[in-house]
Amino acid sequence: PTPTPAPSYSIAFAPVAANQNDTVTVPTGYTVDVLLKAGDSVEAGTAYAGSFPTPADAEKWAGGNHDGMEYFELSGVNANGGGLLAINHELADYNILFSGSYNAATATADQKALALSAVGISVVEVAKGTDGKWAVKAGSRFNKRYTGNGSYRAGGPAAGQLSGSIKGMLNNCSSGRTPWGTYLTCEETTNNYLDPTQPATNYGWVVEIDPYQELAEPTKRTAMGRFSHENVAYLNDSNNRVAFYMGDDSTPGCIYKFVPNRAYSANNRAANTDLLDYGTLYVARFNADGTGEWRALVQGQNGLVAGAADPGNVSQSTTPPPPVTVNFNTTADVLINTQAAARVAGGTLMDRPEWITVAPNKQAIFVTLTNNSGRRVTDNPNPRVTNLHGHILKFREAGDSPLATTFTWELFLLAGNPQLAEANLKGNINGDFFSSPDGLRIDPQGRLWVQTDHNLTGNAGTLNGAAVNMVQAFGNNSMYYIDQASKQSKRFLVGPTGCEITGIAYTPDLKTFFINIQHPTGNWPVAGQQPRSSTIVVTRTDGQPVGN
Ligand code: FEO
Ligand code: CA
Ligand code: CA
Ligand code: CA
Repeated sequence: PTPTPAPSYSIAFAPVAANQNDTVTVPTGYTVDVLLKAGDSVEAGTAYAGSFPTPADAEKWAGGNHDGMEYFELSGVNANGGGLLAINHELADYNILFSGSYNAATATADQKALALSAVGISVVEVAKGTDGKWAVKAGSRFNKRYTGNGSYRAGGPAAGQLSGSIKGMLNNCSSGRTPWGTYLTCEETTNNYLDPTQPATNYGWVVEIDPYQELAEPTKRTAMGRFSHENVAYLNDSNNRVAFYMGDDSTPGCIYKFVPNRAYSANNRAANTDLLDYGTLYVARFNADGTGEWRALVQGQNGLVAGAADPGNVSQSTTPPPPVTVNFNTTADVLINTQAAARVAGGTLMDRPEWITVAPNKQAIFVTLTNNSGRRVTDNPNPRVTNLHGHILKFREAGDSPLATTFTWELFLLAGNPQLAEANLKGNINGDFFSSPDGLRIDPQGRLWVQTDHNLTGNAGTLNGAAVNMVQAFGNNSMYYIDQASKQSKRFLVGPTGCEITGIAYTPDLKTFFINIQHPTGNWPVAGQQPRSSTIVVTRTDGQPVGN
């Protein structure tokens, strides 16, 4: 079904103040409800009730560390009142699985199975009740877990290099979707550190999963490259050609796009089953003058040959490391060793690219560069040494086309706190300031939302003559609206103690926002119980669209 466009409107909420409270703070007139906690039942079975699970139980529970998320419409259901949520689980909430910490070298078989049960994704059918409250529909045939213990197939040019039956996916950080209604969940690690017996080449991929369970089994799409994937955002054109933008959250990492060779079918989902297996992967090169180019990561092009010299991470030291020889003999070599291929091809090393989002008018693409405390050599797109607080960069494709090979770019804002003593930590935020932008999404009304993931105890700079940590300088992690013209920042939501805010999805009428609270450490969401990562629902008490 075609989404019903929301009425046009702007932003009119009263921003909330930074705080360190162990609760979710939203503007006056807004309501917060908890929808899905780590340990809640997804597939029929038990749910966490204070005692540790068996591996079989946990395999059916919602995993931990909720992260990227997408909302999918259901045929025959008014999408403003019900649909499917696909939710990433980046890590386990270990505190509800077993006592003590996880050590891969000494973990028992049960501990390993439990840890791997809690990563992956959950798909749940959700619906708004007559009381206006959203809930998971227990027993829905769509409710399903995909975990670190399941088996996955591989597609694309490097599929033959992966082991025949791939065990699990891991570090499902952020995500995206395709125009044909599949979910793209991203592995933010290139090795299975929870189960080091698994071959490394099996991890670090984008995994395509059909939440409707109609198309192929979950498939690792090797044509999209292997690196520490953050999220995926697409730009399409009137001919159904499409580009998928992706960041590598490495210190430092590059920005990529993947362009399938052919147009997608808008009316035959099955025709798109292997669309992500054939195409060209590009890396972004940001020139100093505000222009940029996409360099193809194709064997035989841009230096990707046998005996190539990988320059390494030259941004992290004023003394460049010696180049390392890498052999790119096949397409699979390029895709499995994407980070080295990108450096050889001249990709720009960025300050940890996290989320990317594409404006609905296709005229702007934003990316969060969350921070890079180790940067020692600057360039125009990464202008600060010891970049503790990160920045947001904006670029625009030539002709607003997904097929463009050039673009223009500008720094959108430098995060920081203007009250800090250090010039390079102040940033230039106009309004409510923040550190470490991570989650990022432009909603269908063109409104830009930013979520933060600042380290809790790390050094933030000097305030009133004293060293302060991130929470002292910025409060708890939060979510902001940022006006793209004035760059005015307004704090919309503050999370509870210890958490990161990440993941944003909404109903087509924008009256319901789904947001994830990741790794809280206090007494939230249920007083007197273990803290648990959770998906929350934010609505307006008067039923009007969020933010208006
Ligand atoms: Fe899992 Fe880069 O955040
Ligand atoms: Ca992130
Ligand atoms: Ca982060
Ligand atoms: Ca995280």
